[in-house]
Amino acid sequence: AQDNNKFKIGLIIPMTGQQASTGRQIEAAARLYMAQNGDTVAGKKIELIVKDDVATPDVTKRLAQELVVNEKINVMAGFGVTPAALAAAPIATQSKTPLVVMAAATSSITEASPYVVRTSFTLPQASVAMADWAPKNGIKKVVTLVSDYGPGIDAERYFKDRLLFNGGQVVESLRVPLRSPDFAPFLQKVRDIKPDALFVFVPSGAGAAVMKQFLERGMDKAGIKLIGTGDLTDDDQLNDMGDGALGVVTSHHYSAFHPSPMNKKFVEAFEKANKGMRPNFMAVGGYDGMRVIYEALRATKGQGGGEALLAAMKGQIFESPRGPMFIDAQTRDVVHNMYLRKVERKNGQLYNVEFDVIKDMKDPGKSK
Ligand code: DHB
Repeated sequence: AQDNNKFKIGLIIPMTGQQASTGRQIEAAARLYMAQNGDTVAGKKIELIVKDDVATPDVTKRLAQELVVNEKINVMAGFGVTPAALAAAPIATQSKTPLVVMAAATSSITEASPYVVRTSFTLPQASVAMADWAPKNGIKKVVTLVSDYGPGIDAERYFKDRLLFNGGQVVESLRVPLRSPDFAPFLQKVRDIKPDALFVFVPSGAGAAVMKQFLERGMDKAGIKLIGTGDLTDDDQLNDMGDGALGVVTSHHYSAFHPSPMNKKFVEAFEKANKGMRPNFMAVGGYDGMRVIYEALRATKGQGGGEALLAAMKGQIFESPRGPMFIDAQTRDVVHNMYLRKVERKNGQLYNVEFDVIKDMKDPGKSK
């Protein structure tokens, strides 16, 4: 029910099932943001309503509807996978409710509703960054292996086109099912082709299985390099992947090892509040999404409806634990640095250590 002294955020995330780590990271980050910044903004008490959609779009849609109709939420946020974000987008449009995408990363999501604002990243950003780095570093002939849905198809396409432009070539494109994938037959095929490198996109939580099977098959010893977007060497799993992960190069917007004072504070506070759990890029998407919501509420002095909040989200510029970022006022998509990183052991733990950067990268998917 409506309560004029409250400001309700409906956080729809996967808390169970294959994508549960995404929800766990985002919820922890949202709660950390609230603990650090208080739960009252512009005279309104912020209420976070967390709902588990199991990353199933039918459930997402039902939850979004219920939250809008029954709870009268002011903003909806979260969205662990692309199909979930796309399922909620029409409800955001109909109800004029801003929808803050904290995780999902297919380029086209921001075009599904004028009420979508994104604080995660896009696969074209990460994939183009890798396709610029690889051919300058002896990697010309590549096989791609992606999860067979929105972000994987973006990764495959943008990596392939850019690599070709840069004088390299994708010789085979493999797609694995999103649900319970078995990577073995695909990796065997890659072994037979023997490219310079295998480029991988799998969603957060699936990287460790790819790494394990890649190493078990001795692909590294056969001279095949493993590269990918940073979803592969996810900070949520990386430290448990073992020394076989050392040297793997990925491109992404966030590493828990990012050497800024703000990030060091963020990681320390996050680990302290969560029994040592290391924040990953999902946590940062959630933390920054809360920032965007808080500042929109502040800017509208607690008086604005959906339209006004949306307007106050567009164009926000701020420092994130990932580095500088802003919300492009035209596209409502995130603009931020893309880092090249290599897995190294630091202070006894495995981290993605940044060694190069492409600054202020817009989503390449928006210019086509
Ligand atoms: C998506 C999900 C992920 O876990 C990820 O790492 C990247 C993209 C998605 O469904 O959009």
